[in-house]
Amino acid sequence: MSIRSFVQRGRITSSQRKAIKKLWPYYGVELTSELDLNTLFGRSNNKHLEIGFGNGDALIAMAKSHPEYDYIGVDVYTPGVGKVLINIETSQLTNVKIMQADAVEILNNNLLSSCLDAVYIFFPDPWPKRCHHKRRLIQTNFINLLAKCIKSNGKLHLATDWEHYAQHMLSVLEASPKFINHTNGFSQRPLERPVTKFEKRGLRMGHGVWDLMYRRC
Ligand SMILES: C[S@@+](CC[C@H](N)C(=O)[O-])C[C@H]1O[C@@H](n2cnc3c(N)ncnc32)[C@H](O)[C@@H]1O
Repeated sequence: MSIRSFVQRGRITSSQRKAIKKLWPYYGVELTSELDLNTLFGRSNNKHLEIGFGNGDALIAMAKSHPEYDYIGVDVYTPGVGKVLINIETSQLTNVKIMQADAVEILNNNLLSSCLDAVYIFFPDPWPKRCHHKRRLIQTNFINLLAKCIKSNGKLHLATDWEHYAQHMLSVLEASPKFINHTNGFSQRPLERPVTKFEKRGLRMGHGVWDLMYRRC
């Protein structure tokens, strides 16, 4: 079995459990085979993927700001899936779908080549201990998987509040011939990136925030 970048955590509330039962058939994606995202949403437009959406703060905010794009969120975190489904329904969003699975599996098995216009990974689990660094999501193999699924000139936006992980992300991406940095090193925080739970937590702990913006070559 490959090394996982996540652990299953968190207690689900009864409203989240009910939301999953009621709303999953409308907004959840069953992963049976390769997915045609235009067919999934019933329209041909830009498709954006957020990996590790957590409670869905950024996913919902981005989908609200850009009704002209479609958003797919992937996470393994069941309470977050419940919460995001409630917010999709409350906000009456028709441009968001949710996948509950390991992003590595989705990129490997379910997404077609060059099907994404943008990928966002905000505040991924930092795995700060040296012995856990191998569990970090951002590694060369993972970047190659992203490169397969992102269109030419498509966007990759990462953010973290852990300086050591930020430097690691930068060195992995700078070494990749598949992505180009259009801001020369770390980027200024783009105004359009919504604030998330883990960004707020990092700021409370006195951490800085590092954004990385790349384009698929
Ligand atoms: C630290 S939380 C950040 C959540 C959110 N982006 C935020 O900023 O508040 C990281 C999230 O990534 C998810 N995650 C980690 N590895 C993953 C993977 N391989 N596939 C899908 N989700 C993953 C975790 O379940 C968790 O919800």
